[in-house]
Amino acid sequence: EAAAPAAAPAASEAAAPAAAPAKVYVVGTDAAYAPFESQNEKGEIVGFDIDVVSAIASKAGVQVKFVNTPWEGIFNAVAQGDRDLLVSAITITDERKQTMDFTAPYFDAVQLIAVKKDSKVAKFSDLKPLKVGVQTGTTGDEVVTKLLGKNSAAIKRFESTPLALKELESGGVDAVVADNGVVIHYVANNAGVGFKTVSDPSFQSEQYGIAVRKGNTAVLDMLNQGLAGIRADGTYDRIYAKYFGS
Ligand code: ARG
Repeated sequence: EAAAPAAAPAASEAAAPAAAPAKVYVVGTDAAYAPFESQNEKGEIVGFDIDVVSAIASKAGVQVKFVNTPWEGIFNAVAQGDRDLLVSAITITDERKQTMDFTAPYFDAVQLIAVKKDSKVAKFSDLKPLKVGVQTGTTGDEVVTKLLGKNSAAIKRFESTPLALKELESGGVDAVVADNGVVIHYVANNAGVGFKTVSDPSFQSEQYGIAVRKGNTAVLDMLNQGLAGIRADGTYDRIYAKYFGS
């Protein structure tokens, strides 16, 4: 029997210069903050923020990959270059602007109080004698810390907002303070737990921005241009309507 002919070397392929792999931008998000970012049954990261950044990326013609990143440490992850950008319902604050750069605002928010339906709490200052749950290091933590004092034993800090809300359900705290969109979503989707919301005029308006490492103008410019693009062509409005109604 004749031996099989040796395969001809793929000379042309071997000589072709290796194409640089397209850069995939790594996006950090604390995916326990529905409807902005959460994990579905398949473990995929989904939500308003995910759709916004995906739309920006497709406008800019770049690829993104979302990586679940605990809130504690999320700012370090972008500072150290482990993440190229962060989208995580992050409120733009003066303090955070010292260590990161933010895009133009893409969403308006305000703090909102969650309590049990039979609670007597009617305004923020009513929380003074009570135990209050917050997610550590959030703007909710900041306002409650201002009201109750930094070392107040009445503040219970959690690594995620859902954990704080679970604690409200079990009675370990009397109230939770977090971003309105997340509190409203939770109350609407967990009717059985019997929560209501309480707003307060003392809460200042907040705006979410996408964060990059300080001085990373290349990525920041790309994001700002993409954001302007999806606002101009109606994509942003469609995403907004999908999650919040029109
Ligand atoms: N907007 C609030 C803040 O910036 C809370 C954001 C929490 N985001 C999250 N994905 N857990 O402090």
